[in-house]
Amino acid sequence: MELMEKIVSLCKRRGFIFQGSEIYGGLANTWDYGPYGVELKNNLKRAWWKACVYDRGDCFGMDSSILMHPRVWEASGHVDNFFDLKSDCKSCKKRFKTEDLKDKYRCPECAGELTESRPFNLMFKTHQGPVEEAANTIHLRPETAQGMFVNFLNILDSKHPKLPFGMAQIGKSFRNEITPGNFTFRTREFEQMEIEYFVRPEDAERAHAEWVENRFNWYLALGMKAENLRKRQHGKDELAHYAHACMDIEYNFPFGWSELEGIANRSDYDLKQHAQYSSKDLQYFDDAAKERFYPYIIEPSGGVDRAVLAFLIDAYHEEKVKDETRVVLKLDKELVPIKAAILPLLRNRPEIVELAKNIAQGLKKSIVTVYDDTGSIGKLYRRQDEVGTLYCITIDVQTLEDKQVTVRDRDTMLQERISIDKLKEYLLNKLK
Ligand code: GAP
Repeated sequence: MELMEKIVSLCKRRGFIFQGSEIYGGLANTWDYGPYGVELKNNLKRAWWKACVYDRGDCFGMDSSILMHPRVWEASGHVDNFFDLKSDCKSCKKRFKTEDLKDKYRCPECAGELTESRPFNLMFKTHQGPVEEAANTIHLRPETAQGMFVNFLNILDSKHPKLPFGMAQIGKSFRNEITPGNFTFRTREFEQMEIEYFVRPEDAERAHAEWVENRFNWYLALGMKAENLRKRQHGKDELAHYAHACMDIEYNFPFGWSELEGIANRSDYDLKQHAQYSSKDLQYFDDAAKERFYPYIIEPSGGVDRAVLAFLIDAYHEEKVKDETRVVLKLDKELVPIKAAILPLLRNRPEIVELAKNIAQGLKKSIVTVYDDTGSIGKLYRRQDEVGTLYCITIDVQTLEDKQVTVRDRDTMLQERISIDKLKEYLLNKLK
């Protein structure tokens, strides 16, 4: 099986990610995060928020609306510029991104005739209120960024920050992609984690370079393998309509090197546009220099779903143990969904089961712990390895006598006997 198939299969088997609306045959390219998927995703977002908001102190958190005033998308340039060219097959009715086609006239799937290529705006349209008419048309946001630009003035007035400072937000975005695919890599509904960092124009280049390093190192610090990460500078012809420069952080996915996160120098484009369209003064006033100007914006913009997928792929590990293949998700301890699993060795011995449940209950308030007695010990270990659980703790007959449990380390498979009353402290120390 190819690596990507193994990841998709593990995600379904173990409750990370399921096909969206599966019992109805699925809605193409939609994915639902299950019990372990949502834990992993939340841990990832928490790690991002900690690094970008709490640890820095110069970025203000935001959670803006998905629905925004229609003028926002005119000002941002999305109405005029946010489109792909598409071609439709007259025979099989499939739709293609023109830039992906080798032959612009023949369908790559059925060799049918293709329509002329036409622009296709990627924003999802809907109507606000009960009447479906053009005046009520609004869009689902295609990026979280604009929710921060329109609140720039609110942050100036409520927080009185000095440059440089940033705004940070995590939230859903929607793009009517022509060719979604590769599991959760490209979907029409996805989550972004974005920072808009405001700097003096003359500091923009330096700040851009610093953010590239900062964001690259974040992935490394969370255990991503260095050989699977690289930086790629955008050529002039691929820059977004707002960008002066952009550096992508790419991951070596099984389907090739692809963008994980982009760090753009957006210049003063956005604030100037919104100032013009809203007729509000969005300049920054530098008290010391007594000057007003539009700050430049450096924007590290990453995809939550893409990062989750990349971390899953990176952590996937197979090793031979005797005659079996052991599958382990070697996720970093900050990301891994479950830190400890309590497994009774004999599930038909009530006193062992009761003690194991009590131990699990005692740990749960401080450590994300599961209890499982639904299989043989071999099966239970396999299950926990596949979701990356850091420590498996077994309760056996001897535990009843010596009040000690066996703690097995996921990565080394070494086992240690630890007394029950020291277990929580032991695990908390390991998880520090
Ligand atoms: N505000 C800038 C912006 O949105 P982008 O490069 O279009 O820039 C940023 O998107 C990140 O959002 C990408 O690096 C990717 O991780 C994620 N992303 C974009 N489109 C996506 C899609 N269709 N599905 C999943 N993630 C997507």
